[in-house]
Amino acid sequence: MTAEYQVRGDVAVITLNNPPVNGLGYATRRGITDGLANALGDAAVKAIVITGAGKAFSGGADIKEFGSPKALAEPNLLSVILALEASTKPIVAAIHTVCMGGGLELALGCHYRVAAPGTNVALPEVKLGLIPGAGGTQRLPRVLGVETALNMIVSGEPVKSEMLASLPGQKLFDKMAASAETVVAEAIEFAQGVVAKGSEMPLVRNLPCKHPQGDAYFQFAKNMVAGMAKNFPAPVKCVETVQAATKLKFDDGMAEERRVFTALMFTPESAALRHIFMAERGASKIPDVADDTPKREIKLVGVIGAGTMGGGISMNFLNAGIPVKILEMKQEALDRGVATIRKNYEAQVKKGKLKQDKYDQRMSLLSTTLSYDDFKDCDLIIEAVFEEMGVKEQVFKKLDEVAKQGAILASNTSTLDVNKIASFTKRPQDVVGMHFFSPANVMKLLEVVRGEKTAKDVLATVMAIGKKIKKTAVVSGVCDGFIGNRMIEQYSRQAGFLLDEGATPQQVDKAIEKFGFAMGPFRMGDLAGNDIGWAIRKRRAVEQPDMKYSRTADKLCELGRFGQKTGAGWYDYKPGKRDAIPSELVNKMVEDHRKELGITPRKISDEEIVQRLVFALVNEGAHILEDGIASKAGDIDMVYLTGYGFPIWRGGPMHYASQVGLYNVASTMKRFAANPLDDGAFWEPAALIQKLAAEGKGF
Ligand code: NAI
Repeated sequence: MTAEYQVRGDVAVITLNNPPVNGLGYATRRGITDGLANALGDAAVKAIVITGAGKAFSGGADIKEFGSPKALAEPNLLSVILALEASTKPIVAAIHTVCMGGGLELALGCHYRVAAPGTNVALPEVKLGLIPGAGGTQRLPRVLGVETALNMIVSGEPVKSEMLASLPGQKLFDKMAASAETVVAEAIEFAQGVVAKGSEMPLVRNLPCKHPQGDAYFQFAKNMVAGMAKNFPAPVKCVETVQAATKLKFDDGMAEERRVFTALMFTPESAALRHIFMAERGASKIPDVADDTPKREIKLVGVIGAGTMGGGISMNFLNAGIPVKILEMKQEALDRGVATIRKNYEAQVKKGKLKQDKYDQRMSLLSTTLSYDDFKDCDLIIEAVFEEMGVKEQVFKKLDEVAKQGAILASNTSTLDVNKIASFTKRPQDVVGMHFFSPANVMKLLEVVRGEKTAKDVLATVMAIGKKIKKTAVVSGVCDGFIGNRMIEQYSRQAGFLLDEGATPQQVDKAIEKFGFAMGPFRMGDLAGNDIGWAIRKRRAVEQPDMKYSRTADKLCELGRFGQKTGAGWYDYKPGKRDAIPSELVNKMVEDHRKELGITPRKISDEEIVQRLVFALVNEGAHILEDGIASKAGDIDMVYLTGYGFPIWRGGPMHYASQVGLYNVASTMKRFAANPLDDGAFWEPAALIQKLAAEGKGF
């Protein structure tokens, strides 16, 4: 049973019991209607209390039923709420801890609501590209007023119950309980009081709903929201549906809400957001590592190298209240690193984003050392030294000597072989890659690189610590570039071919930015430093001399144009400014290069640019799945959404390809393969794409 029924005196108590948050799945909904029928059929019962067991009243829809027919099976949530409203005995919701989405809509269908302080109250549907679908847009404004309700519906953010209870004239809560522990007892008492007074049964649907400024207010709200929501249709729809609540009869407003909800359900934006919601949860699950794998305790973190990455990495742990010890070769390097961390925090204090006491607390958790001996107490040690195998070898051999048994030894390497690094120690099972992205204190993505011998509990621990420091941790196998950089290399290669064939850097950047990328490949190169790719290509030239790529990027570096840091790259930059100005010199260099190769430039459409860049990611992503480097397509999407600026509303490259249809994707790839200036072999669609396309499936 996922809802329990109990009679206490003359009050029936229906307790939702569907851990972890009492999601309103089919069995729970049945539990409510069955409980209601019992209560109505029992003459000894005079009133009903509905509450939730454990750590929630209800978190809303049951995500286990997401997208399945069960989610809509009768009694659906709308029918349950109608049944509550039709009750001939008063119903009191006893609300505590979490009351969100369908949970709040359920409570709004009850006659009375008693709430515990500290409850998180929200209608978060907008975060999935939807509007509330069981009366939330019609009932919440009636109890909280249009503006408060609209803010909650448009933002989807939780608000504390005591805050809502303090609003003048609010009708959401009839009583605030003393605590979550007492809320049921107080709701029973409240129900008995209602019975004693004659069992009045007010319904939210009968309350008036208007805004004093009427349409003028809604026009203003719509303009504001449209400006912020840009590529997402749902927020504006939230405004329109709440406006409908002020104009239409209640049942007509409900019909309008249903119509809009259903239409949004079919938008690509909502599909993308729902995919991300699931992919984010999925990323923390590793197929062969059980959820309850015991984790190692991480009480002290050691970081080696206080450069660009070491400093940012350290801040993540300090922010989470975990002490960090940084090791460097020289005192000056330590001082420089600590000064940068301090400066970063001070900037946050100045902007009012960090309180002074928090700043003091974080800095007090930081210590430094020049000696490996001081690392013997560390539970997790992350190396962020120079990207050279020889240096990594020295560091890991030393760590093997000093680190305590069971300590996790991690490398932040972005290109080197983690198995080889592990082999420098006598404990390869404790070695793992933790690939942060720059700036490491800001970027959400953490690629957790699983070596051949990495122990399962090491992986489980690193995934858990990733969550603790608020990263999106995604597991990658060992290969050159791991998931993200292995794919971006193909994307960059296409960007180069496009120049050779007739495009300019600004045309390529503009086209892909219009598609939604935060930054096109050339602006990105200028920001990250074009010399990084140059170094990688030089290494490649030795390892894979046949790899075809445009030489324009090398020529740019030969001119010393490394990007913003040298004041010039693919674009020109005014001193101290980051605005990318198209460069005549670069455009001429590209033209000359074409002439050298005897290429007659052609006009390339924005559509072709986008398809070549994005499908290059998709084909390589499919190979990554085939090779077992990523265990699921959703993981690849999370890497691209959180680390590479892929547009959220498109759900990541693999989801996007599935939306386009893999048959169409494969056909387009075959067309590209016929272009003699491109890399024909690369465009052979991955076997996985061909197989799924033949089966009519997506990733
Ligand atoms: P960096 O040059 O800014 O910092 C490296 C620091 O390590 C320097 O302060 C240096 O003094 C110190 N160091 C070198 N050898 C050492 C040793 N044996 N013992 C102690 N300290 C030593 O380099 P960055 O950019 O921070 O990169 C570090 C690592 O992170 C590299 O493996 C790199 O591939 C990786 N990485 C870099 C990213 C980036 O965007 N910069 C992104 C992701 C990973």
